[in-house]
Amino acid sequence: MSSENNFSGKVALVTGGGSGIGRAVCQVLARDGARVSVCDLNVKSAEETVESLKNPGDHIALCMDVSQKEQVHDGLRITQEKLKGTPTLLVNCAGIVRPAPFLEMTEERFMQVINVNLKGTFLVSQAVCKAMLERNEAKGGAVVNIASITGRTGLANNGQYAASKGGVMAFTKTCAKELAQTGIRVNCLMPGPIRTPLLAFPQEIIDEFVLKRNPLGRCGEPEEVAEMAAFLLSEKSSYFVGSCIEVTGGHDM
Ligand SMILES: NC(=O)c1ccc[n+]([C@@H]2O[C@H](COP(=O)([O-])OP(=O)(O)OC[C@H]3O[C@@H](n4cnc5c(N)ncnc54)[C@H](O)[C@@H]3O)[C@@H](O)[C@H]2O)c1
Repeated sequence: MSSENNFSGKVALVTGGGSGIGRAVCQVLARDGARVSVCDLNVKSAEETVESLKNPGDHIALCMDVSQKEQVHDGLRITQEKLKGTPTLLVNCAGIVRPAPFLEMTEERFMQVINVNLKGTFLVSQAVCKAMLERNEAKGGAVVNIASITGRTGLANNGQYAASKGGVMAFTKTCAKELAQTGIRVNCLMPGPIRTPLLAFPQEIIDEFVLKRNPLGRCGEPEEVAEMAAFLLSEKSSYFVGSCIEVTGGHDM
């Protein structure tokens, strides 16, 4: 699958860009002309992503923990210096799961997931959107947050994960309302099961809990999410504001 977008001259920042959906997003954005700042907790995997991109020399890999405000601000500053521009395309993709039944969930495990998935989305969005506004580059700016279908359906043994994703959806709509008049559009995706390291469960678990509930009978590929993220970043989606779009293969309809 491919669709042409024109991102030439634009700087993109992608969190969680070292793996899975984030890596595929980086590949699509670079294919369509953006200079990409690939940010990840795991800088080695971010470097591997850069190597996989069209024109690797146009992009950078950065170590960034999205839950740490200072690291987010440092990463943005380095992006601006090295890519010679402010990111006007942002994809918040960094995310973790830490399964535990609700009655056994510790406060620490609960907060780990909230801090990365929800607080991280807040910290990076605020830093990047403020930079766009300060430099008068908000017009044409776009943010895509990667939520999850579980933000709508819930997910047994992953209460804090599902809550973080429901939070990302509400946060997306709030930012979208506050920023629409500035020219920055904010939208989010709700993927279903996508074949990435995050979903690395034994095949019998995938068969029982994923494929039986999926009309297509398969997991999605990271590229199938990435193409929709690129669409939401592009001018083709100029009337999409605060949308939460399912990319699920019909999972849990
Ligand atoms: N795979 C799925 O089935 C699925 C479904 C719905 C939503 N999602 C969401 O998509 C996003 C990407 O997931 P994926 O499946 O590609 O997972 P993945 O594990 O392949 O990639 C996640 C990346 O985020 C990085 N990361 C983790 N903590 C971080 C932090 N604190 N700061 C910066 N980077 C950090 C990891 O190092 C990794 O490179 C996540 O937000 C996830 O919740 C995934």
